[in-house]
Amino acid sequence: MATQGWDPVADWYDGWVGDKGSIHHTKLAIPAVLELLAIKPNEKVLDIGCGQGVLAQYIVSAQGLYTGVDVSEQLIKIAKNRKINNANFLVGDARKLNMSGFDAAVMLLSIQDMDPLDQVIESLTKCLTKGARLVIFMNHPAFRIPRQSGWGWDEGRKLQYRRIDRYLTPLAVPMKAYSSQKSGVTISYHRPLQEYVNSLNNFGFVIDRMLEIPTYKTSQPGPNARAENLSFREIPQFLALRAKKV
Ligand SMILES: C[S@@+](CC[C@H](N)C(=O)[O-])C[C@H]1O[C@@H](n2cnc3c(N)ncnc32)[C@H](O)[C@@H]1O
Repeated sequence: MATQGWDPVADWYDGWVGDKGSIHHTKLAIPAVLELLAIKPNEKVLDIGCGQGVLAQYIVSAQGLYTGVDVSEQLIKIAKNRKINNANFLVGDARKLNMSGFDAAVMLLSIQDMDPLDQVIESLTKCLTKGARLVIFMNHPAFRIPRQSGWGWDEGRKLQYRRIDRYLTPLAVPMKAYSSQKSGVTISYHRPLQEYVNSLNNFGFVIDRMLEIPTYKTSQPGPNARAENLSFREIPQFLALRAKKV
């Protein structure tokens, strides 16, 4: 049986993300997160589910005071080994954080790996000062649902559409072990948008900005390319939001 969690796939994940971030990170996620965070010098930033610490260098460059926390001991070990100046990494469970005084928190591609949502939001709100920002970057819950969404081609109308099989029911989807490894299963938690908005609101946050972000990819040249590119630009694959603790 494959082991659950990120420890068994830590080396694979670090290889995929690399020093500066995967192509998803560098083209889409990190620019969106930095725009929404709008860090001021010496602000304390908590990166929850920091993984191998890809965001640290960008926060430090923006003169933020960075702390990354992750439940995976292996990923935190890899993060510490990068020896990024002025970045602090801790092993910790997002559901039971015991910290305070942060001006901002960020969840970069991590909230959909965590459950239960309410427990995570309640735990992180205690880490933040009044007026602090929380920035979340995730797969778009309405258009990118593991195993329940995909692209389709409508021959009659000559257009590419997005197929959504299920949306409203929360799902825990095991993500299969990576091909080169025999073990390693992570769980992706799908939740409809209303769960995020209501949970944030219940624990004292107000959402003040949202970005819906399409893929950076373009179609292969060919007769369907124009229609495919139109759908790639029109249907977002990622969602970034900022909420303020009131
Ligand atoms: C897809 S990775 C994203 C990592 C990193 N933010 C990045 O963008 O590369 C999801 C991360 O969430 C972490 N995670 C899952 N559940 C967690 C929990 N309860 N507390 C803290 N971290 C958790 C995993 O260990 C993993 O590092």
